[in-house]
Amino acid sequence: MNGGPSGRISMEDFRPKFLSGIVGQDAVVTRLQGLANGVQSGRIVPPNLLLHGPPGIGKTTAARAFAREVLGEQFDNSFYQLRASDDRGIGVVRDGIIPLSRQPPKRGAPFRVFFFDEADALEPPVQSALRSAMEEGWGTTVFILACNDLGLISAPMRSRCMILEFRLVPAQEMRRLLTQVVTGGSLSIEGPLMDSIVERSEGIPREAIKLLVETIGRSTASGGAQPSQVGPGSEPPPS
Ligand SMILES: Nc1ncnc2c1ncn2[C@@H]1O[C@H](COP(=O)(O)OP(=O)(O)OP(=O)(O)O)[C@@H](O)[C@H]1O
Ligand SMILES: [Mg+2]
Repeated sequence: MNGGPSGRISMEDFRPKFLSGIVGQDAVVTRLQGLANGVQSGRIVPPNLLLHGPPGIGKTTAARAFAREVLGEQFDNSFYQLRASDDRGIGVVRDGIIPLSRQPPKRGAPFRVFFFDEADALEPPVQSALRSAMEEGWGTTVFILACNDLGLISAPMRSRCMILEFRLVPAQEMRRLLTQVVTGGSLSIEGPLMDSIVERSEGIPREAIKLLVETIGRSTASGGAQPSQVGPGSEPPPS
């Protein structure tokens, strides 16, 4: 990959598309992959999922990758991502999301996925409305919630979800992620610089990649590595 359409690097270029590209979250990935295998073999409808952990650790990435694996070609028409910046008030949830969650899925799709990013920002009445949608939509709609603060998710919602915790990425795994990013392009980075990025990232991949991009930017400005070839190497080829 040669960066975005402009040829410049954006953080989004580094988001793995598949579960296999997610680094340092083996327990979560194993469970999600098990669910995805069950869906692909037609044995199960996955439970609702609640992903939690600090910012920049892979929750949104995992939710999208999981949905892509279970929805396949239907991802574009059956995956709905609702961010905190979208209108997620009680009106939209009651009059839009809940009725839709009861409808049969699109033709060819096993179910639809509603992904509520930053779910800890949902108002209590909305959480309460979603709780019934989670029951009534079973079989046609899977809800995935992601949050930083599990304590802000109501107990009834928590009890209706499989809860998956994302943990700080160990240094060795972080080095592997950064090496993938670096070798995916034609870049090189000196060992001590890599060590310093791993240390300063404190287990957060978003931070590590940001620091790496900054370092590459500085090095390019001073005549070092060229960014035109930078690629994540973190997106495995579709299988
Ligand atoms: N475990 C990981 N493996 C590989 N890349 C990761 C991982 N976690 C994060 N990243 C990288 O960091 C970027 C941000 O990750 P993501 O958006 O998934 O974080 P998040 O946990 O959803 O954060 P927030 O709580 O702020 O929403 C991704 O685009 C990806 O490039
Ligand atoms: Mg997120």
